Amino acid sequence: MGQDESRMVDEKTPSVTLGNRSLEAVAQYIKDGRAGRIVVMTGAGISTSAGIPDFRSPDTGLYANLARLNLPYAEAVFDISYFRKNPLPFYTLAQELYPGAYRPTITHSFIYLLHKKGLLLKLFTQNIDCLEREAGVPDDLILEAHGSFARQSCIDCKASFPADLMQKAIREKEVPKCLQKGCRGLVKPEIVFFGESLPQEFFVQQWLPEEADLCIVMGTSLSVAPFSGLPEKCREVTPRLLINSEQVGAMGSRADDVLLLEDCDSGVRKLAEACGWLEELESLWAETAKGRPKGKPKKKVEESKKTRDELLQDEVDKLTKEVEHSLKLVDDQHKWLANHVDNKFARIQESTEDVSLVPKPTEEAKAAPESKSETTEGGLQHVYPWIDKKPSL
Ligand code: OAD
Repeated sequence: MGQDESRMVDEKTPSVTLGNRSLEAVAQYIKDGRAGRIVVMTGAGISTSAGIPDFRSPDTGLYANLARLNLPYAEAVFDISYFRKNPLPFYTLAQELYPGAYRPTITHSFIYLLHKKGLLLKLFTQNIDCLEREAGVPDDLILEAHGSFARQSCIDCKASFPADLMQKAIREKEVPKCLQKGCRGLVKPEIVFFGESLPQEFFVQQWLPEEADLCIVMGTSLSVAPFSGLPEKCREVTPRLLINSEQVGAMGSRADDVLLLEDCDSGVRKLAEACGWLEELESLWAETAKGRPKGKPKKKVEESKKTRDELLQDEVDKLTKEVEHSLKLVDDQHKWLANHVDNKFARIQESTEDVSLVPKPTEEAKAAPESKSETTEGGLQHVYPWIDKKPSL
């Protein structure tokens, strides 16, 4: 592939480490044995071809399709203070997101291939679908920055909750309660919600990218802190490759950044081919199909059985509900957001060590009349990276 296909932002700045900013140069760097410690950073975009929606893609993303949950705003479904008030939307969604029904993509197999070659230093993932694990990447090389469905506990007393009861609750869209005497707090999977701290392991390992000699970022909008800051922790001379349908974060701003703005699966195939690994990659991926029912996950099959008229009617119903709700909810949304922003700042000011999961603010949140964002100058940029900063690119 030529340099023109690996798009760059600042083409005038000469590459320091790679020689030139192309996919071939990255492949050559790997083949020369100079990339023995690769960090991979991923998000929902590496699982979309498995049939799991990402979050922010305009029409297909999860947040664009949550009208049926009657939320004040889309990200509320993963917000801990909203969950305390109304946990049902999360449990409705959890049934669809629960791991087990989906096959890893070839991108997941590519990460496993890096491990097989002894090149994977660490995979930092924001995903909760566990597909990297299913593809074969060992547990100790995966850092699930936003937690996973693997464990569950009470949000009040933190007591753990039996896995079989959680599976039953999710299957039946019920909200499980803590079994400890006198508690009865809400239980949820240990997925990190907005307003909660990331796992301690994240803060221990977040400096690992400094030791890497290649960084590959795939399928993420890099819009949620503190994960979004990970690529910046690589040394300036470390080449960084972005494989994503769009340019994100500050990727492209450094001399050795290479941007492959396309589908993750086709991007990793190109990289594997340039490294001479394509056949091996395809056969590793073929392994992941074994023992699975042929075809797409069940939900998709059911959807595809609907007639055109039924699908049209679904769409009309959905749009009607969306219009009704947006008219009704604008007022509630403002009040809720203002309150939410106040609470969040109050919590953070109480404990500056508690670095919680933070999305970029929505336009509504920024416009909320009682927002206190102007009062938080000094020392909180690591928590709210957009404060006093220009947008990334
Ligand atoms: P997003 O939905 O924010 O971003 C996915 C990115 O992948 C976007 O830039 C898409 O353009 C791109 N993309 C989608 N499909 C692709 C494909 N097949 N090939 C290449 N690129 C593709 O998802 P995340 O960045 O993972 O947190 O979102 C981060 C966090 O926000 C999530 O962990 C979640 C969410 O709120 C929680 O739920 C707590």
